[in-house]
Amino acid sequence: MKTRVTELLGIEYPIIQGGMAWVATHELASAVSNAGGLGIIGAGGAPASWVREQIQAAKKETDKPFGVNLMLMNPEADEIAKVLVEEKVKVVTTGAGNPAKYMDMWKAAGIKVIPVVASVALAKLMERGGADAVVAEGTESGGHIGSQTTMTLVPQVVDAVSIPVIAAGGIADGRGFAAAMMLGAEAVQMGTRFVVAEESTVHENYKDRIIKAKDIDSEVTGMSTGHPIRVIRNKMTREYLKLEKEGATLDELEHLTLGALRKAVVEGDVMYGSVMAGQSAGLVKKKETCAEIIADVMNTAQKLLNR
Ligand SMILES: Cc1cc2nc3c(=O)[nH]c(=O)nc-3n(C[C@H](O)[C@H](O)[C@H](O)COP(=O)(O)O)c2cc1C
Repeated sequence: MKTRVTELLGIEYPIIQGGMAWVATHELASAVSNAGGLGIIGAGGAPASWVREQIQAAKKETDKPFGVNLMLMNPEADEIAKVLVEEKVKVVTTGAGNPAKYMDMWKAAGIKVIPVVASVALAKLMERGGADAVVAEGTESGGHIGSQTTMTLVPQVVDAVSIPVIAAGGIADGRGFAAAMMLGAEAVQMGTRFVVAEESTVHENYKDRIIKAKDIDSEVTGMSTGHPIRVIRNKMTREYLKLEKEGATLDELEHLTLGALRKAVVEGDVMYGSVMAGQSAGLVKKKETCAEIIADVMNTAQKLLNR
């Protein structure tokens, strides 16, 4: 399928794997790129040296384009921004802010810049700043979220900008893909479904928790702190939400979440760790290779879009 996004990125299918902190390692990113989508390494809060190693490993595993997600709150963001240029990364997605200060450097290096946005205002700002496309991410997503739904946000962003829009949040199969195209998106970004891919290196307990999840199993922590995060409900979220209700301070809440994503992803502690996943977890039923996931999404979507 050809869209402006497949042309822009030089990929076969308009499917992007979200750059997920701790989860989106070179193994996952290169598998998605080899399957014809765009794999993305998630820099999360990792140091610049780790990001460089990941990029170099991915280059050995694929000759297809892949990208890196830079969380702008990363303490080494300035350094990572330079590593992306030095390593000639093709695509950068950015989260948690405005990448304006890196834009000139990245554009001069020929890097395609795709900020993740949760509002029309930010999408317009990014377009004015030179972004090549935007990911419009709805509140159904796993991880850090905004407040608008994918269903309402995507068409409003499509109407507001002329650069291509990539839909994210709640899309986990061909039906979601087709719906996103109907809303005017030219690609989708999926996170939760790729967490359980065979090539994903996250702990099996994490994958099993997503596979067992029902429609109502995700919860949003951090509303009171201004940093809402969607995760699967467990002992940690119950405790967190109880404290939030009681008006706990940021410090009191932070001890529950500090290192909690690592605890779940690496140690497999799905009771006290942060099992970030979206509302689409209920749609994710089995482990498959990235190639199988992409084929499944595209086959269903093509049938729906052609009928
Ligand atoms: C475990 C996890 C970690 C994530 N970490 C990041 C991140 O570091 N940066 C980012 O921009 N998005 C992050 N996301 C969001 C994804 O990139 C993607 O946009 C989102 O998962 C799409 O929604 P879905 O989960 O419904 O597919 C994360 C999502 C998950 C599930």
